[in-house]
Formats: sequence, C-alpha cells, structure tokens
Amino acid sequence: MSSNGSPYRVFYSTLSLAFIADICLLFLVPDILHIFSYLPRDLNFLEHTSDLGWKEHQRARPIIIDPGLYHSKKSGVFSAKEKRSLPASFKLYTGSSWVVLSRSFLEFCIWGWDSLPRTLLMYYTNFLSSPEGYFHTLVCNHKDYQNTTVNHDLHYMKWDDPSKEHPANLTMEHFDNMVKSGAPFAHKIAENDPVLDKIDKELLKRPRDKFTPGGWCLGSYGLKKDPCMVYGTADAIKPSLNSKRFEKLVLRLLDSENFRSKQCK
Ligand SMILES: *[C@@H]1O[C@H](CO)[C@@H](O)[C@H](O)[C@H]1NC(C)=O
Ligand SMILES: *[C@@H]1O[C@H](CO)[C@@H](O)[C@H](O)[C@H]1NC(C)=O
Repeated sequence: MSSNGSPYRVFYSTLSLAFIADICLLFLVPDILHIFSYLPRDLNFLEHTSDLGWKEHQRARPIIIDPGLYHSKKSGVFSAKEKRSLPASFKLYTGSSWVVLSRSFLEFCIWGWDSLPRTLLMYYTNFLSSPEGYFHTLVCNHKDYQNTTVNHDLHYMKWDDPSKEHPANLTMEHFDNMVKSGAPFAHKIAENDPVLDKIDKELLKRPRDKFTPGGWCLGSYGLKKDPCMVYGTADAIKPSLNSKRFEKLVLRLLDSENFRSKQCK
C-alpha cells in the first residue's frame, strides 16, 4: 500500500501506541491496515441511530454552555433554563463517540465548502456529549456521505450491570469474547489490569517494556535483543494470521444483509 495515498495514515501514526487514553488495541496495526487496504477508501465506521431514546430529553432538549470553550481552565458545564425543540432542517443521529473516518469525509468536515459541517458545529456547541452526535448527524444528513457509513464503532465494550450507564471494566473473564468479536479496539480496561499483559503477550506479541514488533523492525531476534532497536520504514506492512479475525468482522459488517440496511436508520 502506498504511504502517501493511504487515507488511514493519521490513524496509523497515532495508533502505533498500543494504549491510548483508556482504549486498548487488540490487533497489531499492520493487521488492521492490511484489511483496510482491501476496502473502499471512502467508508466511515460509526455506530449510529436516529432513535434518540432517553437522549432526546437528556441531550437534545437541554441547552448547555461549556465555559471550557473560552476559559483557560476547565470547569463544569451549566444548562440554560429553556429547553429547545428538535432541529427541523436536519435529523439528529446519535451513537458511540468512537469513529473511524475516511480522509475524504474529514476533508469535507474541515475544508468547509459546504455549510453543513459548520452549521452542526455551532449547533453542537451547546449540546452535552457532542462527540456522540456530531459526525453521525453530519454523515447521515449529507447525500454524498450517507452511503459510506458502516454501522459499527470497531470497539468491544460491555455496559456495566445493572445501571448500563457506564462501560464496564473489561477483565480476564472478557478476554475470549474480546478476541471472538474481531473488534480492533477494546474499551475500557482499568490501568494495570492483568488482562492488559495477556493482550500484550497473546494478541500483540509485545515483550514486556519493548515495542510491538512489526515489519519496521530490522534488527535480529535473540535473547536480550530487541529487533526494533534497528528500524526501517514505518510503512512496511507485514500482516499476521490474526488479521483473519478482523477480516471476519469486516465481512460481516459489509454483508448485504447488514451493510445498506443499517445505514442512517
Ligand atoms: C445512495 O444509495 C441510494 C440507495 O441505494 C441511492 O439511491 C443513491 O443514489 C446513493 N447516493 C449516492 C450519492 O451515491
Ligand atoms: C473500573 O476501574 C476504575 C479504576 O480502577 C475504578 O475506579 C472504577 O470504579 C471501576 N468501574 C467499575 C464499573 O467497576
């Protein structure tokens, strides 16, 4: 895959770290890129629905002010007394705040030749948990992008019992299901949970305190030797057999029964 032409370049460079915030990577990056390299370049992975449920009254009706937008110190948001009606010129969508977006869609968001990205940016300024809606609403309200959505956030998550309001901490007992899901990311895992070592060892093949190995490591293997201390190009993609698990998930998501019927519903 050519490096300049890859729409997932940013994705690759940021996610070379196995652990970002509280998201954990379950595959080697080359395995993920390998599967992506077979897919149409314009797909956007977002879990989304127009069925707002409880979020209509907890999210869409309230108007909030976030002083963090204009103060140098973070503080809590506060809400206006008035409630607002649902928008009429676009339809609201909501879903998981984790998304994997195509270069072309992001350029549409940033370059601003169309007013919708900016209109929604202004609308979501006063919206609680805007990352759960901005891209979802934008992608589904524009005819050029509606057909590019894959309704999945590529994460493995479980909601806590019984409240279902927060993601549960994933532990050893979830490991098998995490692997079976084929999802490239997991959320969330408490710091220092032993399952992280199991993921490093069995899924990422990462030796303790060393880099995750990949096609870019050119040094020799051996006791006390870290092959990644000698490195070549970061674009060397050497997928492993593990990539099959991700491939299976992607094939299921793009299956004719799943794909079109779940877009922007
Ligand atoms: C999106 O898909 C629908 C239904 O298959 C089709 O009618 C429409 O023309 C497509 N839009 C674009 C921009 O390709
Ligand atoms: C998850 O782990 C964090 C940090 O270890 C802890 O503070 C939190 O209470 C745990 N959450 C649940 C739902 O068990």
